[in-house]
Amino acid sequence: MKTYLVTGGAGFIGSNHIHYLFKKYGEEIFIINVDKLTYAGNLENLKDVENLPNYRFVKADICDAEAIEALFREYDICRVVHFAAESHVDRSIKDPTVFVKTNVLGTLTLLNAAKAAWEQEDGSYLPDHRFLHVSTDEVYGSLSDPEDYFYETTKYDPHSPYSASKASSDFMVKAFMDTYHFPANITNCSNNYGPYQFPEKLIPLMLHNALNGIKLPVYGDGKNVRDWLYVEDHCKGIDMVQEQGRLFETYNIGGHNERQNIQIIHTILDSLHELLPADDPRQKLVSEDLITYVTDRKGHDRRYAIAPDKIKAEVGWYPETCFEEGIKKTIRWYFEHEDWMKNCISGDYQKYYEEMYSNR
Ligand code: NAD
Ligand code: DAU
Repeated sequence: MKTYLVTGGAGFIGSNHIHYLFKKYGEEIFIINVDKLTYAGNLENLKDVENLPNYRFVKADICDAEAIEALFREYDICRVVHFAAESHVDRSIKDPTVFVKTNVLGTLTLLNAAKAAWEQEDGSYLPDHRFLHVSTDEVYGSLSDPEDYFYETTKYDPHSPYSASKASSDFMVKAFMDTYHFPANITNCSNNYGPYQFPEKLIPLMLHNALNGIKLPVYGDGKNVRDWLYVEDHCKGIDMVQEQGRLFETYNIGGHNERQNIQIIHTILDSLHELLPADDPRQKLVSEDLITYVTDRKGHDRRYAIAPDKIKAEVGWYPETCFEEGIKKTIRWYFEHEDWMKNCISGDYQKYYEEMYSNR
């Protein structure tokens, strides 16, 4: 039985990954989910797996070396999938410090603990033990040439405190691979969307606002481009790299699905009209009149676009869910989980929204 340590498993992609792993491997695996439960961590995301005998949740900070080392002592962990991070660019612009603590120092703490547990006396590592560091395309910066794409060889050029912290964590993983031959991979993925995404991010925020007749705040001219991938396709890519990828390699993950932010918003509005029953009172609330152009994000990257050639060629990955289908699946999921959304936006979320969007 393989034992996984998943960090940040109560967040958006981490919880989807835990579902993905259980769906794929069932009782063949044991998963330990370590999460600090920040504002972004939500155990409701894991309700359907919480009582499985091969699942354990541990509330801990990845910067807490003692807590992390204890887990490596207690279990023969042979897979680490490292998601835990501060992940929201706007928050990083307001307060970068926690981004460096969690994303850089937290990653180093995990690397130290895994290395200590896996390294043998002769300097080699326990066989079939692998660490996968989940990173982002934002480390590559912003593309100006419309014909250009992010390749694994593209020079790092992060702009926000978030992307700078992720770039630093990638370099730390790379340093462990280069210096100690530590058995790891890095994946750099584009924008994800799907179930369990916290409504500070573009798609769930616009969905929630549109359904409630709240203004849709578009940063700048709305023409910034992101490359959207359905979250389950990201999870599939992570798993394929961890099982079949060449150790010490970086793999970019993306589905060639570039859209301007304003196009995304129009797609959400159109899909809502299509999916809401004709007599649903929200049909009247959902309107293009809600679109409001607001002050741009500071240092706003213009365009991200991944070239996924390497992961396709080497491990045979391909995305299964096209955007038109994925956005409808996502909207249906939010329809079916209204309480989940209500719980997210109660309490601190209102304060956050006020600080971020009033007078913008
Ligand atoms: P998220 O913010 O939804 O979840 C992050 C999780 O990490 C939360 O459960 C939170 O409680 C936990 N966490 C935060 N600090 C912690 C700490 N110090 N110790 C333990 N747990 C902590 O993030 P997400 O969108 O699911 O992103 C997951 C990872 O994927 C991140 O590393 C992010 O950089 C990367 N990524 C995200 C996207 C995207 O589009 N969301 C795309 C590419 C890569
Ligand atoms: O590219 C991968 C990255 O995607 C991940 O590494 C990050 O963790 C994840 O948060 C995401 O970053 P973005 O900044 O691209 O995502 P966000 O949803 O915050 O914004 C998407 C785009 O929409 C961006 O151009 C800013 C714009 N936007 C966002 C919000 C929240 C708006 O116009 N209005 C908004 O209210």
